[in-house]
Amino acid sequence: MSEALNLRRVTGADAAYVAEIFLTSRQRAMPWLAQPHTDDETRSWFRDVLVPRGTVVVAEREGDVVGFAEFSDRWLHALYVAPSAQGSGVGSALFEYAMTLQPGGFDLWVFQRNIRALDFYARFGCVEVCRTDGMGNEEHEPDVLLRWSPTR
Ligand SMILES: CC(C)(COP(=O)(O)OP(=O)(O)OC[C@H]1O[C@@H](n2cnc3c(N)ncnc32)[C@H](O)[C@@H]1OP(=O)(O)O)[C@@H](O)C(=O)NCCC(=O)NCCS
Repeated sequence: MSEALNLRRVTGADAAYVAEIFLTSRQRAMPWLAQPHTDDETRSWFRDVLVPRGTVVVAEREGDVVGFAEFSDRWLHALYVAPSAQGSGVGSALFEYAMTLQPGGFDLWVFQRNIRALDFYARFGCVEVCRTDGMGNEEHEPDVLLRWSPTR
């Protein structure tokens, strides 16, 4: 049986943990993805920009941060779960929280080669809006714009 999850707003003390989850989870899921920034640049960006912005929600289990999501302004900007915690409901809990806080719906970008994430979002009824050749993103990786809308 999995231990209870606690979802809460990020604090400055979480910044290093959240950055490591992003780096390890992205590398594990998308080893083929170009890296436009060094890991240290990414850590600084989490510490100095993303976490202070206040739009990140973390998932905690037994006191450890095991995943996070960033959402605002009808967008789900990021959803990452620590590799060791994947498959235990953390991503679903964070996605459902985004649905609760953005009940009118929201959009998100996914790389086309990230099949597992595409399957995950399809489970929640996300639909494809358009595809790009990736020339508009930093990694130059083809992606898909997905939309989650509330059912009437
Ligand atoms: C995509 C991601 C956020 C899903 O989070 P998660 O915590 O693993 O998802 P959940 O445990 O809530 O699982 C939901 C479903 O996903 C699928 N899934 C989860 N773990 C899986 C695994 N190890 N193997 C295959 N399918 C799996 C299952 O269908 C699962 O359904 P179930 O509840 O019936 O088992 C997570 O895998 C992740 O962080 N991936 C890497 C980063 C990433 O790609 N983020 C998205 C960027 S757009």
